[in-house]
Amino acid sequence: MKLWNKGFEPDKAIEKFTVGQDRELDLRLAKYDVQGSMAHIRMLESIGLLSKEELELLLPALQQILEEIERGEFSIEEGVEDVHSQVEFILTDRLGDVGKKIHSGRSRNDQVLVDLKLFFRDELKHISESIQNLFNRLIELSEKHKDKLMPGYTHLQVAMPSSFGLWFGAYAEALTDDMNMVVAAYNIANQNPLGSAAGYGSSFPLNREMTTDLLHFANPHYNVVAAQMSRGKTERAVAAAIGTVASTLGHLAMDVCMWMCNNFAFVSFPDELTTGSSIMPHKKNPDVFEIMRGKCNRLQSIQNEIALLTANLPLGYNRDLQLMKDILFPASTELIECLDMATYMLGEIRVKDNILEDSKYDYIFTVEDVNRLVLEGMPFRDAYKKIGMEVQTGTYKPHRGVNHTHLGSIGNLANDRIKAKMDSIMSYLKT
Ligand code: ARG
Repeated sequence: MKLWNKGFEPDKAIEKFTVGQDRELDLRLAKYDVQGSMAHIRMLESIGLLSKEELELLLPALQQILEEIERGEFSIEEGVEDVHSQVEFILTDRLGDVGKKIHSGRSRNDQVLVDLKLFFRDELKHISESIQNLFNRLIELSEKHKDKLMPGYTHLQVAMPSSFGLWFGAYAEALTDDMNMVVAAYNIANQNPLGSAAGYGSSFPLNREMTTDLLHFANPHYNVVAAQMSRGKTERAVAAAIGTVASTLGHLAMDVCMWMCNNFAFVSFPDELTTGSSIMPHKKNPDVFEIMRGKCNRLQSIQNEIALLTANLPLGYNRDLQLMKDILFPASTELIECLDMATYMLGEIRVKDNILEDSKYDYIFTVEDVNRLVLEGMPFRDAYKKIGMEVQTGTYKPHRGVNHTHLGSIGNLANDRIKAKMDSIMSYLKT
């Protein structure tokens, strides 16, 4: 059964190939499809393309379908191409010919676009909530462990004192940059394509401002060709947002794997959050963070997939665009799962005390000792040379009693400022 039925039966193999994963993936668009149709028919009635009586029949029927979707009672039947066709078939089945009237001035091209924009808006909000939860956990851990020093590394060589306060707080602040990208993707998604029809508009006097207001979009895509072009552009922005969050999370996962390594043993987790080996009885492995690292690395590749899929497509709708759903729908779910898992795991993290008391970290205090001499009046270059010579001749001993670290960056985590920054970025998502 096809919306475009012209009296011939389509070839089954062609149908299977072209429908692809749509029957399953489009289920996630179903509620937005109905919401889009409700706005569209209200607008059609306002310009005289539907009567008041017809609207009063159609709206409750669409509302009923919406409730069925919410109860999980909606599916896309065998032989039906996509969600757009399914909703219209149900409507026509229940109401007769009036169901066929809802598609005036619309094409599946702007219909799927509006569904996707509404879907991405919600999905980006979910992502932002998961980011916010992880952010809160990181800030809480940064405060809790602010006095616990750890080695800072450059070139993977011990460098200068750092702290768990700085480490946790660093990832919290990195997430504020990622949140900016989520907000940017949200703003790109938050524009109404409805009324652009197949991509070149309609000769009906469609009121595009009205559907923009009804669907709470910031504005319409004014140019109907640009509206169609936004399929691909929106996905690129969403993929970039997912990729940048994944890069932060993948980096964090790598740090945890390393700090859990027995040679560091800076952090640990309760046994039940680790995994074992089938041959080595002593193993407590960080599989959670390894899977997270792998998933996050993979999530960074979707930007390339989307870019290649859409590169140099001819202007206007092309069916290639459908394939972006296969990439982005599971990616956004996977990102949310990774974020939530990180929040869950970090809730149980145990941080080792007194790490820097081990003599293998003695040299980490050389800069501290240079700074101490500078504060006592010695020129920096002389102080540097004096401590350098002590290291060279093996006579260097760190002045552990005098701990200047708390005067500088370690003592000034600025978590309140970081929180205020996150709040201000998040406020753009509250529409
Ligand atoms: N499943 C299609 C997609 O996601 C829906 C739009 C179909 N439009 C068309 N002209 N064949 O792109």
